[in-house]
Amino acid sequence: MFSNLLVFEFILDKISKKLKVVLMLTVALPKGRIAKETLEIFETIFGDSFRFDDRKLILETPKFRFLLVRNQDVATYVYHQAADIGVVGLDTLEEQGLDVVRLLDLRRGICKVAIGMKKGEKLDLTKPELKVASKMVNITKRYFEERAVSVEIIKLYGSIELAPLIGLADMIVDIVQTGTTMKQNGLEVVEDIMSSSTYLIANKNSYIAKKDEVLDIYEKIRDVIQKENRT
Ligand code: PRP
Repeated sequence: MFSNLLVFEFILDKISKKLKVVLMLTVALPKGRIAKETLEIFETIFGDSFRFDDRKLILETPKFRFLLVRNQDVATYVYHQAADIGVVGLDTLEEQGLDVVRLLDLRRGICKVAIGMKKGEKLDLTKPELKVASKMVNITKRYFEERAVSVEIIKLYGSIELAPLIGLADMIVDIVQTGTTMKQNGLEVVEDIMSSSTYLIANKNSYIAKKDEVLDIYEKIRDVIQKENRT
C-alpha cells in the first residue's frame, strides 16, 4: 500500500516535471507570532503581501495554501499530509515524536525546556516520591527515565509555574523564553533539558512527490535565514 503510494508519487513527480507543472504547497502555521514571522519571510522572498483576512484560517496564493492551526496541531497536519510543510517548535516535535522531515532551523522562537523549582531549592533526584508538573509529559518522562529516577508526572495544560507554589508538585518541566514567568512567580531554573527553536518540517511523501517545490522553498527560506545571520 505504502510502496504503491510512493510509486504513484514518483510517477506524478515525473509527469509534473515533463509538463513543467508547479504543484501547490500547503503550509501549516501555528497561530500567533510564529505565523506572523514566517509570513514575513515569505514576503521577503516573494515581495508580495501574505496576510490572513480577519478570522480566516486559510490563505490561498498562486503557489501556496497556508493553514492557520494550533501550535500543537502543526506536526499532525504535516504527518497526515493535510499540509506538505509546516513550521513548529523543536520542543513540540520532540514531545509529539511524529515522523516528519526536519528541514531547517529557522532560528526564531528560541527558548529552552528546563526544570524549575522554588527559588533556593536544590534538585535532589535521590528524594523519594518526586512530583513533576508539566505539559510536556513525554520529554519529562524521557529525562527522568534516562536517569533511572522514578517520578510522578502531573499533566497540566498551562500556568505550570503555579504547581510548586501551591504544593501540587516539587518541580516543573516547562518552556523558558525570557525567564520572566518563573522569576515573577518565585521560581528558578535548576537544570536545562533541551534548547528549542522553530523548525521548517515536511511530510515524508510530499518530500518525494513535491520535491522540487519543497526544495525550492527550503532553499529560499534558508537563504533568508543565512542572510539575517550574516548581518
Ligand atoms: C509558556 C511557558 C511559560 C512561559 C515562559 O507559557 O509555559 O509559562 O511561556 O515564557 P517566559 O520565560 O518568557 O516568561 P504560555 O505563554 O504558552 O502559556 P501557558 O501558561 O498557557 O502554557
